[in-house]
Amino acid sequence: MPIAIMSAMSEENAALVEAMTISDTVETGQRIYHRGTLWNQDVVVVFSHWGKVAAASTVTYLIANMKVSEVIFTGVAGAVDRGLKVGDVVIGSNLYQHDMDARPIIRRHEIPLLGQIALPSDEHRRQLLLTATQRFLATGITLSLPRETIDEFSLHSPQAVVAGIASGDQFISRKAAVQDLRERLPDVACVEMEGAAVAQVCLEFDIPFSVVRTISDSADEAAGVDFPKFIQLVARKYSLGILENLFAS
Ligand code: ADE
Repeated sequence: MPIAIMSAMSEENAALVEAMTISDTVETGQRIYHRGTLWNQDVVVVFSHWGKVAAASTVTYLIANMKVSEVIFTGVAGAVDRGLKVGDVVIGSNLYQHDMDARPIIRRHEIPLLGQIALPSDEHRRQLLLTATQRFLATGITLSLPRETIDEFSLHSPQAVVAGIASGDQFISRKAAVQDLRERLPDVACVEMEGAAVAQVCLEFDIPFSVVRTISDSADEAAGVDFPKFIQLVARKYSLGILENLFAS
């Protein structure tokens, strides 16, 4: 059974599709599912689209119709942990839906009927992704990006961490919103818009899930400028490089 590689950005998805050997494509529900191999690994590669509903619908199709055995999600994120810089990488430990709030019926952030606030990723895959990311950051980054891009984004000593990730249907671009997130969910290192939705569907279907996110911005007032620049010049190299280190070695 294939592993699903879901990307949050069309640029990352395009780079993966270009690198793979395609055996079959399925076009449905406004998505294109590419089936084939990446570094000899049987995969289905798809652009998730943005937001929790889009990502949940994509992963449900992958599980129910493409019979994937596992889901790996790649994308970018805004930094919440003050120690993280643009170009650092977060491998998700626990995923949270920061906009889930059914109080006073249940606790803030608890997923209705699931009874959980934190959605854990697969521990084994998380470790493999950490090793692959560290390997990519140590050498691959200088091989895959031009010197001026490395200097422009100060990608001189990027780090990889395993930490909590918060997801919600909001692009966060205010310091006050980041501070609020830190207070509500203290182990969260970064914020994005899909991971915890995919984590919930995978948990409900009992499919291993993991997520790797590159920091593209600081989720502050500059995020609207930093984010598109990073996507255009850097993001695709990261997901490709990390997955190559995961599968090809
Ligand atoms: N993905 C990348 N940056 C983000 C941000 N600041 N907020 C939400 N999702 C993001």
